[in-house]
Order: sequence, then C-alpha cells, then structure tokens
Amino acid sequence: MVKKLQTVRSCTVVSPTNLALIKYWGKRDASKLNLPLNSSVSVTLDTNDLRTTTTAYLMDSKPEVDCDRLWVNGKEVSIGETPRTKIVMEEIRRASGETRTFYVVSVNSFPTAAGLASSAAGYAAMVFALAKLCGIDADARRTDLSRIARMGSGSASRSMFGGVVAWNMGVRPDGEDSLAEQICDVRHFREDELHAVICVASDTKKHVSSTSGMSTSVATSLLLKHRADTIVPARFEEMKTAVRAKDFDTIFTLTMRDSNQFHACCLDTYPPIFYMTDVSRAVVRLVEQLNEKPFAPRFAYTFDAGPNAVIFCRTGSDARELLEVLLEVFPPSAADVRSDGGFEFVRGRSRRSRAEARGEAVSGLQKSTISLDARRAHEGEISYFFHTGVGQGVRIVEEEGCALDLPSQV
Ligand code: DP6
Repeated sequence: MVKKLQTVRSCTVVSPTNLALIKYWGKRDASKLNLPLNSSVSVTLDTNDLRTTTTAYLMDSKPEVDCDRLWVNGKEVSIGETPRTKIVMEEIRRASGETRTFYVVSVNSFPTAAGLASSAAGYAAMVFALAKLCGIDADARRTDLSRIARMGSGSASRSMFGGVVAWNMGVRPDGEDSLAEQICDVRHFREDELHAVICVASDTKKHVSSTSGMSTSVATSLLLKHRADTIVPARFEEMKTAVRAKDFDTIFTLTMRDSNQFHACCLDTYPPIFYMTDVSRAVVRLVEQLNEKPFAPRFAYTFDAGPNAVIFCRTGSDARELLEVLLEVFPPSAADVRSDGGFEFVRGRSRRSRAEARGEAVSGLQKSTISLDARRAHEGEISYFFHTGVGQGVRIVEEEGCALDLPSQV
C-alpha cells in the first residue's frame, strides 16, 4: 500500500449529555428531518463528570467515492450502516459548501451500555466539530446547528447549549423551526445548586431503542396522542416559567409526573414497552419516602428509555445525603466487593470504591433514618452511581493543523 502525507486540520470538542425534564417521545416526521411530536426541556450535565470527546479531521482530499470515516470508542463504525451519520455529514457539507473528506473519532467517558444518552452527546459533538472545521461560526450558530444535530438524534439538539434547554417542536413541515434554545445558562444556578445522582441498574438486558419504541407508540398509543396534543403544550410553558423562576417545587413535581406519563404511554403502546424494572420502582418508592410533601419535593426522579433512575437534587448537600441513603438500600454485594474492591461504585463528584461504599453502608445502618426492612433490601441491584450537576453545552477544546501519514487508498 503506497503511503502519502496528507495535510489535515482537526478540531476537538467536548460534549455533554442531557436529561429531559419534559420528555421527547414520538416523531411527527420520522424521515431524515426527525421532527418530534412534542416540545421538550432538558438539563445539560457537567462534562467534568460525563462527556463525549470528539476530534473531527478535515482531510486534504476530495471524496471520489464515499470515504468519510467514523470511530466510536476505538472501533470503526461503518458509515453505510449508520444512515444518520451520513445525513449529518451531508447537511454540514450543504450548509458550508465544503467538499473534502471527514474523519471523526469519538470517545465516551462513560460506558455506552449505561444508557446515558450517548447519542445526544455524540451527535452534538460531531456536528459542532465538523461545522467549525468547515468554517461555520459554531459558537454563534448553536440554534442553527441544533437543526442538524436533531437529524442525528432528537435529543442531541439540546446538547448544543448548557444550563436548561428547550427544544421547540415547530410546526413547519420542513422542520426549519424545530430548534433548540437556551432557557437559562449554567450561571442561573449557584455553584452548589441542581445536582443529579444517576443510578445505573445492573440490568444490562437489551431494551427497545428510543427510535423503534417511539414509532410503535405513535402508531398505537392514544394516550401519547392526548399527551402530545393536550398535556405537553401547557406543561412545556409551565416548566420554562418554573425554571426561569427557580421554582424547584414546580420543576421537580413536573419532572416526576412527566416521566411517569411517558412510561404510562409506553405501557399504553401495543405491544407494551417496559423500560422501568423492579429496581427502577424501588428507587421511585425510596424517593417518595424521602419526599415528605409530594408537591414540595426535595428530590425528583426521572427515567428515560431504560431502567436507570436519575434523581435531581436541589443542592449538593441534598445529593450527598441522598447518596448515603442509596448506599444503605442499594449497597454493592459482598461478593462484588471481593471480586473487585477497587471498582468505582460512586463516580463523578463523590467518588467511592465498592469497598468504601459497602463499608459506609454498613456503618450508616446505625444512624439510618430509613425503615429497617428497606436497609440493604436491594443489595447488588445497582451497578454504580454517578454524582454530577448542571453544565455547559458542547465546546471546542483544541484546533490545529497537522500532517498525517496515511495509506493513499483510504
Ligand atoms: C426517552 O433522542 O434517543 O430519552 O431522535 O430517535 O435518536 P432519536 O431519539 P432519542 O430519544 C430520547 C428519548 C428520551 C427522552 C428525551 O431525551 O427527551
């Protein structure tokens, strides 16, 4: 194979994942436009704790055939088999007039299998890095770019911004008004405000993907139609107002009720889809127990298309207190501690190994406020926790030009 030196320019970005407070579920147009049935609202998570890092390369050659390439977590992914990547790359070329070849290398700091919306972070990163390389002022055009990210994955449109973000469903058939906008940036919250604890359930069973689940729900659930036509329009406005006012009572109550309604729509889908499991329901019951007043909750659970609970907390000290309780109810099993004591059981802001977590769970039992039968009732049922908070949108961390020694055929 003949090698030649290619000049390339590269751009590296870090991109956050986001968690929906008002869920996007259902498409009104499942074509390449990927238009939603309802508007949604999400919190962008801190990239210090969970992030996708993506480097995009603009090669010094024109593609004679399709020769864009993509690597995710060290493995090459065939672009022919990921039509949405192809769509995103074509849209960037159309918007910028660029004709050269793209290489994209993407790595998640969290396990893809954890079901933590890696597609949201991944597509937002790809769009932002490619746009910048193609001469688009990505920072100034986040709303425009959310249109392209949406075609990769709907929730990716919201990772363009930090803080709290709304994705307006829009009404135009061409989707030009189906865009994300920032409701408030990360500085709207004090340093210690709005934390999240993610409970990664040990259930690693494959579940129905969001895309296919949505399509069955749209085809069969009358409840989803009612939700999209009647409930979400009012709830979307109410949530935006509550976020601007930092009215945590309303934000948290709506978050839990919206998650419950989304999962009710999944149950109303025929055949039904079950994303929540017994472990998920045990987390709900625990949060209900901790929230003494249902309409002034301290904590808010929410679940996406999988069994993992995300629990929002008003402050960091609430999150730390919650973690103590969670470790009592869902400690790692003794066998897991023996097999790998160094395994990080709490990740992100309150790191603890399995051995530390189990030690604390045992010593916490004496001062525990939770009922006796709940303690250690779910030992070994959560694989690990993440403690994180609200963060910034996708951003550039490095830009450079370099020469790569590449086989000429690639
Ligand atoms: C339950 O954005 O993954 O997490 O547009 O088909 O890629 P596609 O779906 P995706 O769906 C996310 C669904 C959800 C709710 C949400 O994030 O709003």
